[in-house]
Amino acid sequence: MKQSELVKDVLQSKIARRKFLLGGVTAAASVGFLGKVGTGEAQAGDERQKQARINGNFEQSAVGSSLLGFAGIAAITNQDFDGLAVPEGYSAEVLFSWGDKVDPRAVEWLSDGTNTAQEQELQAGQNHDGMHFFPINGASDHGLLVVNHEYVNPQFLHQDGPTVEDGKKPASQIAKEQAAHGVSVLEIRKDKSGQWSIEENSKYNRRIHGNTPMDLTGPVACIDEVKSKLDPVGQRVLGTYNNCAMGYTPWGTYLACEENFQNYFANTDEADLEVTRSQSRYGIKTESRYLWESNDPRFDITKKGESALDDYRNEANKYGWVVEIDPFKPYSTPKKRTAMGRLVRECATLSMNTDGTMAFYMGDDSRGEYLYKFVPNEAYAPGKDMENALDDGTLYVAAFYEDGSGDWLPLIFGKNGLTPLNGFKSQSDILINARAAADHLGATPMDRPEWVAVHPVTGAVYVTLTNNKNRGNGDLKQEVNEANPRINNIHGHIVKLDENNGACKAMTFDWDIFLLAGDPASDVLAHQGDIKGDIFSSPDGLYFDQSGRLWIQTDYSDSDPANKNFGLNQMLAADPATREVRRFFVGPKGCEVTGITMTPDQKTMFINVQHPTRSFPAGDGVTRPRSSTVIITKDDGGVVGT
Ligand code: FEO
Ligand code: CA
Ligand code: CA
Ligand code: CA
Repeated sequence: MKQSELVKDVLQSKIARRKFLLGGVTAAASVGFLGKVGTGEAQAGDERQKQARINGNFEQSAVGSSLLGFAGIAAITNQDFDGLAVPEGYSAEVLFSWGDKVDPRAVEWLSDGTNTAQEQELQAGQNHDGMHFFPINGASDHGLLVVNHEYVNPQFLHQDGPTVEDGKKPASQIAKEQAAHGVSVLEIRKDKSGQWSIEENSKYNRRIHGNTPMDLTGPVACIDEVKSKLDPVGQRVLGTYNNCAMGYTPWGTYLACEENFQNYFANTDEADLEVTRSQSRYGIKTESRYLWESNDPRFDITKKGESALDDYRNEANKYGWVVEIDPFKPYSTPKKRTAMGRLVRECATLSMNTDGTMAFYMGDDSRGEYLYKFVPNEAYAPGKDMENALDDGTLYVAAFYEDGSGDWLPLIFGKNGLTPLNGFKSQSDILINARAAADHLGATPMDRPEWVAVHPVTGAVYVTLTNNKNRGNGDLKQEVNEANPRINNIHGHIVKLDENNGACKAMTFDWDIFLLAGDPASDVLAHQGDIKGDIFSSPDGLYFDQSGRLWIQTDYSDSDPANKNFGLNQMLAADPATREVRRFFVGPKGCEVTGITMTPDQKTMFINVQHPTRSFPAGDGVTRPRSSTVIITKDDGGVVGT
């Protein structure tokens, strides 16, 4: 099909599907749901929604006017822009940057890159990504902010950038790179003047990094496939890497998700790599991104001896998991919850029904990978011991059908052909090789599923499919399908799912395309989309506030001429009922905008500016750039977004 016919076809089938769905569950969910914001009535409405969200059933509140109360800002195409742009009546300021003190023992960040690995272990890591605010006693002026540090920029991390000597990266550089990964836990407080700051000597302040000891729990713990020279029991693992987006639980823990772990390991034996699906199916190569294997043996997963205890071949099987962290217990050991499956996982987003039944939605962010959910066996109730609730449950993968329906396919050993005859020998084997199991079940390959957000009232599940330049390139797996309808999907789209009867544990759902990103005014068909309002490309971060505004964060190359009209990376807000999109924030040149959380009163928003390339936040044109957490508030003290 020609691209022009395709776009027409996509839009028409989208309209047809919407009409079809209006007869069903989606109709109820897609009408408005919010009372006016900013009035007493709205406060009551917000409270009611919050209760609905916390206590159970997703209910519908009154139809209201537009949710978006701010004046949208223009795209910023100035390639020298090195600041933060917000609408009139709003302010944005930096709270927390790479190198800032986290652990009370930390020393000051040195702007010449000479802090040691040991110093970096106590300071903020690089590349802030997913994060969450945990209020202390329900407060909106005091809580714990937990922030992921996804990866490192060696060119800024080291004084003169990375080096290699005799084929080896210096051990000191490897150690510092490992130390700049992981998670920061910070106690933060707002003073009477409205100023937020980090409590420097808080007992909660903690850095979890690339060498922090953790436990493997659930079905994969202690099996042969995770034993190694470093860990003959198969239960201990050092550190977490590539913590991208996240999740949180109703019992107050944080879920750091391990995304592109495959970039950290190398198997130099090409033939072995090819036949080892737990490596090759995840994209592990013969050389790693940061070359740690050159001088840190645990990242060299090449077989060296007869037994797995002779080498580190299984070390990569200990990454790709959800890491549960209790920020309120500073000495607790983080736990990798293997029942949730091993993926190149973007996020683990909670949805919960009145009865405490939960689902965690998870995107596997690579081209042509899948959307998953994990349904714990245990239902949540306040005060109940949920310590190991994420160790038992069912992992599902999504299949999207042409008629707007879909199935959740369970990844259960012995069912639907997940048997030894087809190469699956146990549940733990399925979990380590979740991608292969999902292939076998016939899951629908998606255009890079990134964040998932759940509507606070209706429970509708929104998923960003950031882009996929390989869609329709001729590969069987990259064929165009209804849920991923564009050949060479340069700009991405957002899909909406409604679980059958709104149940988190439903086995079926209805779906629709919420929007196709791109520029509707472009005369190049490949760049067109159907956004109503301000345009953008490559949706990535996605978040619902408690009033039902859908916040969309972008991640595209701002130097690619194809993205010229969108300007620099940004955050927008959408009204799910009217589908209107309005630009709220633009970040500095080179960055992506990612990570978002709010205080319970919705008056403080936290977002992250990741990998700026000029001199942000110093803005002096000289200082090396630092990823940073930014606070956004409304000058009149009101709810952000109104
Ligand atoms: Fe770390 Fe898929 O973004
Ligand atoms: Ca992302
Ligand atoms: Ca991305
Ligand atoms: Ca990124």
